[in-house]
Amino acid sequence: MSATLFIGIAQLVTPGAGPQRGAAMRALTVTENAALLVQDGVIAWVGAAQDAPAASTTHDLGGVAVVPGLVDPHTHAVWAGDRLADFEARVNGVPYEQILARGGGIRSTMRATASARVDELVALARPRLHALARSGATTVEVKSGYGLAFDAELRMLQATRALQAEVNLTLVPTLLIHVPPTEGRDEYVRGVCEALIPQAARAGLASAVDVFCEREAFTVEETRRIFEAARTHGLRTKLHADQFHAIGGTELACELGALSVDHLEASGDAQVAALANAATVATVLPGVTLHLGLPAAPARPLIEAGACVAVGTDLNPGSSPTFSAQLALALGVRLNGLTPAEALTACTVNAAAALGLTDRGALAPGQRADFLTLHSRDWRDLAYTLGANPVRDVFVAGQPWKD
Ligand code: NIG
Ligand code: FE
Repeated sequence: MSATLFIGIAQLVTPGAGPQRGAAMRALTVTENAALLVQDGVIAWVGAAQDAPAASTTHDLGGVAVVPGLVDPHTHAVWAGDRLADFEARVNGVPYEQILARGGGIRSTMRATASARVDELVALARPRLHALARSGATTVEVKSGYGLAFDAELRMLQATRALQAEVNLTLVPTLLIHVPPTEGRDEYVRGVCEALIPQAARAGLASAVDVFCEREAFTVEETRRIFEAARTHGLRTKLHADQFHAIGGTELACELGALSVDHLEASGDAQVAALANAATVATVLPGVTLHLGLPAAPARPLIEAGACVAVGTDLNPGSSPTFSAQLALALGVRLNGLTPAEALTACTVNAAAALGLTDRGALAPGQRADFLTLHSRDWRDLAYTLGANPVRDVFVAGQPWKD
């Protein structure tokens, strides 16, 4: 196939390929007056424009900054219903966990989602994914978790599969075991392990299994059982942990080699140390800090301790109505204390690692040609801008993304 040489790149900025830990998260390579050669959807060459190889096609980007496509490693983009009444109640002082304990919150989204057909879920999720793509996301993780009943969980995963068939973004499906039923939780966990996980794995509907490990959700022991079933059926694991209370989920996930632990708003020194000593990625979700008014996850101590930190939107109706991967990056700087360079690394190669992917997130030969042009010549506009979109064009595997 023919190769395309992208020129007119005022500044090309990239982290190193693969997961970056600690201080290495700040080590970006910045090339002024650069060019990028793409062949068959993959980067074939990158460097100074004056050294560029010849190519059959040239595409002049007009003098802009180019960065890797963003990876959003944590979304709940498929849901039905809304949480506007919860939002108003919370603003009036009712805590998120209390709304959940009373049968609202996640449980109200479950009622609405479980009664929706696959085509309805697809129609609801489509514009959310398009918004994430326009904001620079070229790979998006999408969780189930609002079905509760097993057939409804599988319908959510089928909706993600149907969406993948219509977009050239990469969607990474995760089976989320979110909250237990109000009665019969032991049978539920057994069914998850013996029926739901094997079925999702057999049908190829999920790459990983996630659990919400929290006082109002699953215990550490239940999480362990679910993780063991995931491993038996060849699925990776991820965890929602330390959102409100550090009850031991982070330590368990690190011990069992989970891909990532996400949230971490309530993490302390012990959890930071566990993540610093494990391959498990620490994914922070600044949209939750903003929307629920929670403490910010300790991204600075995590990086100083040598952990691999990623940032995600956690797009969902209850805790983070954040429809922009770029905004999550920008909030990671304001709320979690990341430097702009660390935030770019957190939203690219490290977010990819949180999904078990090492073939994307850096602008280097052999990586997928997922990249963004900005309206600006200076890449720092990506981390600086709040409430407008600094992303001009999104390229997925070398092809322009079109809404
Ligand atoms: O990642 N904390 C648990 N799950 C989601 C929120 C889901 C919801 O509120 O609907 C989260 O924050
Ligand atoms: Fe989440």
